[in-house]
Amino acid sequence: MRRKIVAANWKMNGSNDLADALVGEVREGLAKLDNGVEVVIIPPALYIARVQQLVGERAWLGVQDIAPWGEGAYTGEISAGMAADSGCRFAIVGHSERRELFGETDAVIADKVSQGLAAKLNLILCVGETLHQREAGLAVDVVSAQLKEALKGVSGSDWKHIVVAYEPVWAIGTGKTATAEDAQAVHGAMRSVLAEMGAPAQDLSLLYGGSVKPNNAAELFAQPDIDGGLIGGASLKASDFLAICEAF
Ligand code: 13P
Repeated sequence: MRRKIVAANWKMNGSNDLADALVGEVREGLAKLDNGVEVVIIPPALYIARVQQLVGERAWLGVQDIAPWGEGAYTGEISAGMAADSGCRFAIVGHSERRELFGETDAVIADKVSQGLAAKLNLILCVGETLHQREAGLAVDVVSAQLKEALKGVSGSDWKHIVVAYEPVWAIGTGKTATAEDAQAVHGAMRSVLAEMGAPAQDLSLLYGGSVKPNNAAELFAQPDIDGGLIGGASLKASDFLAICEAF
């Protein structure tokens, strides 16, 4: 059975006050939720300890990025081992904002994947095409290449620590969502690529991200190959985030 996952990527948003208010409300809402969804809260790293205290047992914690190296002289970086040591079970790798703003290549992302797996983290690998690439009919090609490069070092039982999030770049923070059919088409193609790569593709959770809101989550999550969501803006409002968690 595939895991149903909804993950909150706060990005570079938040404060101690927001964490207190938001996580308190989310915790109360999750206590009433019994649809089997696994919830992951991924705040900026500085707030992980605080969120961990507030959230209780019902949600996992995650980190928004990890270094492609182990510990050492890498000022400003956070290693996968440190994230695990601080209570994180999940790490996002390869978010399009990091690919675009920080020049992250698939090779760097592959190194992050191997560091994360060594630290026994579950990795949420983000992939997705730009608008230009979609209009050129290249969405599946782009996403397939990203999967093959970033996950080329994964084998055996490590696959069970891999979650993929399809986040079309043109849908992130724009209010434009891929239609459920378009998202399903890419998710189905991703599952085939993962199978070709030797992954237990039917068991892997594939998330959709990009302007997921309470009014579109149910239709997206009803698709046969969409197993949950990676939520940006709507994860900062407890009622919206909870409504998305309920949308299975
Ligand atoms: P939005 O939900 O704000 O579009 O962000 C999606 C995203 O990038 C999650 O990682």
